[in-house]
Amino acid sequence: MLIRRPDDIPSSDITPESVYQNRRQFVGAAGALALGTVLSPSALKALSDTGLGAQDDKVTPEEDATSYNNFYEFGTDKEEPKELAKDFKPMPWTVQVEGLVKKPRPYSYDELVGKLSVVDRTYRMRCVEAWSMVIPWRGVMLRDVINRVEPLPSAKFVEFTTLFDPRRMPGQRSPVLPWPYKEGLRMDEAMNSLTLLATGMYGKSQLPNQNGAPLRLVTPWKYGFKGIKSIVKIRFTDKMPNTTWNDANPSEYGFFANVNPQVDHPRWSQAKERRIGEFIRRPTLMFNGYADQVASMYSGMDLRRNY
Ligand code: MTE
Repeated sequence: MLIRRPDDIPSSDITPESVYQNRRQFVGAAGALALGTVLSPSALKALSDTGLGAQDDKVTPEEDATSYNNFYEFGTDKEEPKELAKDFKPMPWTVQVEGLVKKPRPYSYDELVGKLSVVDRTYRMRCVEAWSMVIPWRGVMLRDVINRVEPLPSAKFVEFTTLFDPRRMPGQRSPVLPWPYKEGLRMDEAMNSLTLLATGMYGKSQLPNQNGAPLRLVTPWKYGFKGIKSIVKIRFTDKMPNTTWNDANPSEYGFFANVNPQVDHPRWSQAKERRIGEFIRRPTLMFNGYADQVASMYSGMDLRRNY
């Protein structure tokens, strides 16, 4: 994002349509359409909460989603993370939970996410660089994890931190970003039913390393950089936390980073996006098409400044 222009996807990256068909998703979407006339508004909302909001969108080929990545800990080129993360061993994994929370302590991966309901959600992902994908995630709702660790009422924000280990993450040997990568959400955003901690994708229960194994945040109405990968710390706080891209370049990357086609990046338009695998750019949707589920969280906020 510091280095690349918004849309410099080499033609070699634009692959023909995938053989991959998310059958369950397709069947689910067709069923929802067929039932649409008889479902109550709340049932329809429940359906769109499951990610069927992405029903008009074809799932991005798995090969593309796992070989065209932003994960600067493993290099700044899109092709590097797959190669440079191939020997990364995510397990065993520990997440430090700290700050304004009843049960601050290190949690093993299983203690944090084990035995929670696993959900499959297909979401659009809109990168701030003006490309997008449609990804079938598997994971748990962040709200279930938060309820497990019991934040105090004084907690207003939650901060996430990526592993810092330059021996295992070679990109961290260069100061391309202020390491470790950090992100944050306001508590209502973290508790929103769309927000996931992904543990897998494309019907598999483990994430590929290049996509943020073993735990990665997914907030589909926000630009992709909010989706912090390989999380080792979750801290509850009463102050808006610093976030990496905002620290690196505050005039270009904000804390909220809600997808908004009307607010351009200082160096490029955000009105359209290139869906990976397609040639013609498509219009970008307000809140990436998830306004029904999230717009109420920002009522009264000046969306022009809500970048
Ligand atoms: N998380 C960490 N730790 N480091 C990163 O460089 N890149 C972000 C986000 N999460 C990034 C990260 C950006 S800019 C995007 S668009 C998405 O991850 C890309 O996710 P993907 O590679 O799974 O498509």
